[in-house]
Amino acid sequence: MSRKRQPAEPYRIKSVEPIKLLNKVQREQRLKEANYNVFKIDAPDIYIDLLTDSGTTAMSNRQWAALMLGDESYAGATSFRRFERVVRELTQKKFVIPCHQGRAAENLLFSTMLKPGQFVPNNTHFDTTRANTLHKGGIAVDLPCPVSTSDEILNFKGNMDIAQLEEFLIKHGPEKIPLVIMTITNNSVGGQPVSMRNIRETSELCKSHGIPFFFDCARFAENAFFIKRDEPGYSDKTIEEIAHEMFSYCDGTMMSAKKDGLANIGGFISINDGDLYRRLTELLIVVEGFPTYGGLAGRDLDVLAVGLQEVLDFDYLDFRIDQVKYFGEKIKAAGIPIVEPTGGHAVFVDAGAFLPHIPAHQFPGQALACAFYLEGGVRVVEMGSLMFGGVDPNTGKKFTASRELVRMALPRRVYTNSHLDYIAEAAENIVANKDQLAGFKIVSQAALLRHFTCDLQMLSREEVGVE
Ligand code: F0G
Repeated sequence: MSRKRQPAEPYRIKSVEPIKLLNKVQREQRLKEANYNVFKIDAPDIYIDLLTDSGTTAMSNRQWAALMLGDESYAGATSFRRFERVVRELTQKKFVIPCHQGRAAENLLFSTMLKPGQFVPNNTHFDTTRANTLHKGGIAVDLPCPVSTSDEILNFKGNMDIAQLEEFLIKHGPEKIPLVIMTITNNSVGGQPVSMRNIRETSELCKSHGIPFFFDCARFAENAFFIKRDEPGYSDKTIEEIAHEMFSYCDGTMMSAKKDGLANIGGFISINDGDLYRRLTELLIVVEGFPTYGGLAGRDLDVLAVGLQEVLDFDYLDFRIDQVKYFGEKIKAAGIPIVEPTGGHAVFVDAGAFLPHIPAHQFPGQALACAFYLEGGVRVVEMGSLMFGGVDPNTGKKFTASRELVRMALPRRVYTNSHLDYIAEAAENIVANKDQLAGFKIVSQAALLRHFTCDLQMLSREEVGVE
C-alpha cells in the first residue's frame, strides 16, 4: 500500500451546509456565557466542530434514498428486517436488539447482566460505559496493555492486558464478573486499535473461565482497517472478512452505530443467548420501544442498514484513517504534542505535556480546548481530569485520569483537508502564546459524567499551579 501522496476523498459533494466564523470578541463572549464548558456553546457559534465523531456523519446518496423506504409500522416493520439482516450477517449473532444509541444498549445490558458489587473488566471503558456500570452499582475495571500510554510509536496500543485480565479472572471468577468487554477501537486511550490476536486471546481466556465476552464496537470497521494494514497475515483479506473474524470471537456486541454505522442516530445489541434476549427485550419494551424499532424510526433503521455495509468499503477507510494521520502530522508540526500513532477517529493532543505550567487539577486540557475556540472557533473536547476525574458516587473513591488529553475528533465524510489546515494554523497561534493560558476550577458539577454540564471559572495568573 505504498504511495507518494494521500488518497483524495473517495466521494464528491452533493449538498453543502454553510458554516460561519464569529469574530474574536463574539467568541470570547460565547465562551464566558458557556462558563467555559464548550458543550454549552450553540452549534451555529462554532466554525469547525471536532467535539465528536458521533452522530455527525454526512450520509451518502444511498442512505438518503434508503430513508424514503422507512417503514414506520409499530411492529414487524420491513425496515427492521433489513436492519436485522445486515447486523446478523455482520456480527454473526442470532438475535438483534435495536436501541436509540450506544448508552441505551449499555443501560439494557448492564441492567440485565450486572449486580451491585460485580466487576466489569474492559481494555478501557468509555465514559458512558463506566457511568452505566457505576449506575448499576458495578465496578468498572480498566485493563489496557502496558504500552497504551507509552510515547513509543507502536501498533495496537488499544489492546487488553491479557496477563492482568487472567490474574483478575482467576481472583474473582464468574460469580463476581458477569461479562468482559473489549472496546474497539479503544476510544479513551487515543482511538487506538486492538489486534486480532489480542481479541482471540481475550476470547479464549473468557471462554476458559466461563465468562461472556462482549464487544463495545462503535468503531469496528476502523479497527478492521488497522488489522488489515498492520497485523501480519491480514493484508490480503477484505475488511468484511476481517470484521467477520473479529465478531466470531465474541458472545455479543453492543454498538453505538452513530460512529461506524455512518448514521446520525442508532445502536444495537446482538447476541446468541436466547434467554438473555428474552430478558433484554422485556426491559427494551419498558424503556426503549417494541423489539422491532427499539427507540428508532423505521427510516433510521434503513439508514443504518446501508451505513453498516458502506463502512466496510476499503477506499472509504483508507481515506479516513489517512486523513486523521495527515491532521495529526499538521498539529504536531505546529508544535503541539500528539498521541502517536494517530488512531482511527481523532487526533489526541497531550495537553499535560504541552502546558506543564497548568497542573492536572486545574485542567490543562480544558485550557487548550478553550484556546482552540477562542483562537479559531474550533470546538474540541477535554479527555483528562475533567472527563475522567471526580468521585465514585457509590464508594466515595476518587478517580484520576492517566493523562491530560484533548480529543480532536473528525466527523465522517464532513470536513476537507483545507478545514484541517485552517485548524493547524490556529494551533500555531496557540503555541506562540501558550504561556498566557490559565487553568480552571469547577464551580458546579453533576455526580456522573460531569464534563457535559459542569460550570467552570478561569483562574487568574496568580492562582495557576497553586493547590
Ligand atoms: N462506547 C464507545 C466506545 C463510545 O465512544 C461511545 C460514545 C459510546 C459507547 C456511547 O455511545 O453516544 O451512542 O450513547 N462516544 C461518543 C464520543 C459520545 O464522542 O466518543 P452513544
